[in-house]
Amino acid sequence: MANTPFVDGKKLNITDTILRDAHQSQAATRMRTEDMLPACETLDKIGFWSLECWGGATFDTCMRFLDEDPWERLRTLRKALPNTRLQMLLRGQNILGYRNYSDDVVDRFCKKSIENGIDVVRIFDALNDTRNLMQAMKCVKEYGGVCEPAMSYTISPVHDEQYFIDLAMKLEDMGADVICIKDMANLLLPMAAHSLVSKLKERVKTPIHLHTHNTTGTGDMVYLMATLAGVDIVDCALSPLGNGTAQPATESLVATLSGHERDTGLDLEILSEAAKHFRVVADRLSEEGFRDPKVLQVDTNTLIYQVPGGMLSNLISQLKDAKAEDRYYDVMAEIPKVRKEFGYPPLVTPTSQIVGTQAVMNILGGERYKMVTKESKGLMRGEYGQLPGPVDAAVQKLCIGDDEVIECRPADLLQPEIDRLTEEIGELARCEEDVLSYALFPQVAETFFTNRQRKDANPAGDELIAVITAALRAYSGVAASPLVRSMGDVPSAVSASPGSNPMVRNS
Ligand code: CO
Repeated sequence: MANTPFVDGKKLNITDTILRDAHQSQAATRMRTEDMLPACETLDKIGFWSLECWGGATFDTCMRFLDEDPWERLRTLRKALPNTRLQMLLRGQNILGYRNYSDDVVDRFCKKSIENGIDVVRIFDALNDTRNLMQAMKCVKEYGGVCEPAMSYTISPVHDEQYFIDLAMKLEDMGADVICIKDMANLLLPMAAHSLVSKLKERVKTPIHLHTHNTTGTGDMVYLMATLAGVDIVDCALSPLGNGTAQPATESLVATLSGHERDTGLDLEILSEAAKHFRVVADRLSEEGFRDPKVLQVDTNTLIYQVPGGMLSNLISQLKDAKAEDRYYDVMAEIPKVRKEFGYPPLVTPTSQIVGTQAVMNILGGERYKMVTKESKGLMRGEYGQLPGPVDAAVQKLCIGDDEVIECRPADLLQPEIDRLTEEIGELARCEEDVLSYALFPQVAETFFTNRQRKDANPAGDELIAVITAALRAYSGVAASPLVRSMGDVPSAVSASPGSNPMVRNS
C-alpha cells in the first residue's frame, strides 16, 4: 500500500459524499446548509479521508433554488469542519458551468475555492482529454490544494483496461496527488474493478480513489473487490442518502471490513449518530417531492445497455414531451450508433445529453442527422476536445459541413475574460467570488445578486419573501421529480422539457 502524504498504511480510506453527490443523485441537490450544520460536529469526529461538499451541481442549485450563496456555504462548512478535508468536483476547463472558460477564470476559480476552504479538488473531463485538465491541475497545485484528476470511466471498443492504465500514468506524470476512477454510471463491475485496480497499483504510485454509484446494485461488491485489490480511497454516502443512484452506504462497508487488514478504523456508533440526523433530512426531501422512491431501485437497463440511468429517464421525458413514447426502443437502439459515430465519448455530463438528444432527433426527425443540435456540431468540431475514438467522416460532414475541426486545446482559442466579466456584472458583484459566480451562471447569478440587493435595501420585506419562497419551493417540489433529467443544463439550442428538472446530472 502506498505511503504518500495523502494516504497512510493499509486501512481503506473513506470519502463521504452526503453533503454533495448523495443528495445530487437522490434529491436534486436540494440539501441546504442549515440541513448540514447540525451534523458537522459529529461528521468532523468520524475520520473520513474527506467530505465531498461542493462543486458539481451544488453551486448552481444554491443560487437558483435555495437562495444561498455557494461561497458562503463553503466558508460556513469550513468553519464547522475544521479537522476534515473538504472536497469538491470540478469539470476541468468547464469549471462548473457549461462552456469552456479561459485560463484566467479557471485560475481565479481554483484560487478562490482553496482560499474559501476546499482542500481536495477532483477534476474531470467528459472526454478524458487531458488538455482540458491541465490548467485546473496546475492551479490547484499552485494554490496548495490536493490535486485529484479523474478518469471518466466507460466501456467501449476504445476504452479497454489498457486505456485507463495509460491515462493514469499520464495523469501521474502531470502531477496528480491522487487519481480517481470516476464511474458515474456504475458500469465498472466487481471483477473488472479488481482487475483494473490491481493493475493500476502495479503501474502507478499515486493513490487510487474509486467513485461509483449503486445504480446497478453492484456498488458494494465493486468496493469490496477494489478494496481487496488495494484501492486506497472509496466514495461512500451515509445510509440515509446512500445506495441506489447515490454512492454505496458508508456503514455497510465499514462493518464489512471491520477486523480485516483493511479495516477503515471508523466507528459505527459515531456514523450512526450522524446518520440519525440525515434520516430526518432525507425524509423531508422525500416529503417535498425531491426524492422519488425510484432512486433506490436497481437499474437493470444500465447493466444491459451500458447507458447511465439518468440518461434513460431524461430520454423518456423528452419522448413524452414529443408524444413519441412508442419510439423508446428505437432511440435505445440509436444511442450506441450515435455514440460510435461520435468517437465513443464517455456518457457523462455534457456528452450524455448531447448523444441522447441527437439520438432522439435522429429517430423523430425521420432521417438521421437531418436535425443536428448546436452541441453535436460543437462535439464534432472538437470544441469539447479530442474524441476518444475516430469519428464517422460522413456523419461529421453532415454535422459540420466544411467547418474546420479544432485540433488545438480548445481553451487556447479563448482570450482572457475575467476583466470583461468583472466590468459586465459591475456593482452587483461585491467581491471576486461574485464575479466567478456570474462567470459560471450569468442569469442565475444576476438574479441572485439583484434579490440580495433588494433584500438588503428592504430588510422588512425579508419575512414576506421567505414565506413566498417557501410556498414556491413546496410547489416546485411537487413538480420536480429528481428522476427526470433534461437538456436544460446544456445551454440553448436543445429543448428542455418544461416539467423536467435541469439540476440532476450524472457525475
Ligand atoms: Co458521482
